[in-house]
Amino acid sequence: MNDRNFLSSDPDRYSAKLPVWEGRLRLWHWTNLLVITLLILSYLIFDNHKLLGLPKPQTVFFQKTHIILGYLFVFLVLARLHLAFRGAPFSRWKDLDPRHEGKGFATVLREEVALHVKPATDAAGCPIPDSDPGHNRLGRYIYLPLLAVILPLQAVTGLLWASLKFGWLPLPFLHTLPHPAFAATKWIVSNTHAAILYAVLGFVALHLLGLVKYELTFASDLFSSMIHGKKILTKKAVENYRKETDGVAGP
Ligand code: HEM
Repeated sequence: MNDRNFLSSDPDRYSAKLPVWEGRLRLWHWTNLLVITLLILSYLIFDNHKLLGLPKPQTVFFQKTHIILGYLFVFLVLARLHLAFRGAPFSRWKDLDPRHEGKGFATVLREEVALHVKPATDAAGCPIPDSDPGHNRLGRYIYLPLLAVILPLQAVTGLLWASLKFGWLPLPFLHTLPHPAFAATKWIVSNTHAAILYAVLGFVALHLLGLVKYELTFASDLFSSMIHGKKILTKKAVENYRKETDGVAGP
């Protein structure tokens, strides 16, 4: 069955399949998933070293592996921030901001929840997907804090932890701070770093639940869009796509 038949009999609903996610964004997304998974695994191993019966040298090996992966993660965070300022239209801050048409965060949130819980239907009774070609507008409520606050804060606290624990870059002198200052800094850094891990896990849970719900409700191609970069858009979404990419280099 081809995409058109599968999605809907209404031609307005399947208007075009257009490139939305640029290659650099897709590469970032899947590399980031891999690096975050390895960071969590290495953390779980060294944090549970007693339970696992790991000798000290192996525990230190996993701590150092975690830090090296962490440097890679810092690079990824900077690369995604670069795309938010300089990337293709659908990688930028503008496409991550849920506000539009002069409406604020709370109003848009109310509207988007209602739209996703009880979507409008087409002539054939199939739910009509939203008219945003890029990031799902409800999803922006978790993408924006993730990219602007959570991931950068995790990168900064991770770097500080590397300096405190092993005297590694960027601030090696932290390793030799006098005792009260060392203990206080370590307490703040490691507790913040651990707390943000739960925020990241919370994001991933919401992200995956949202994707599954969206795919089931709209029989969409959202998941594969992050692989090949193209999205199937409604007529209205195509109009918005043209407006957003007008005069700017496409993805
Ligand atoms: C199996 C795991 C994952 C799958 C299947 C997945 C899939 C997707 C898909 C299909 C989109 C496009 C959604 C849209 O149109 O709004 C997306 C976007 C996004 N995902 Fe994931 N994702 C996964 C894990 C993660 C993880 C671990 C992170 C970061 C911690 C992440 C961060 C993002 C972000 C920030 C976006 C918005 C695109 C951007 O602006 O960079 N994802 N994901």
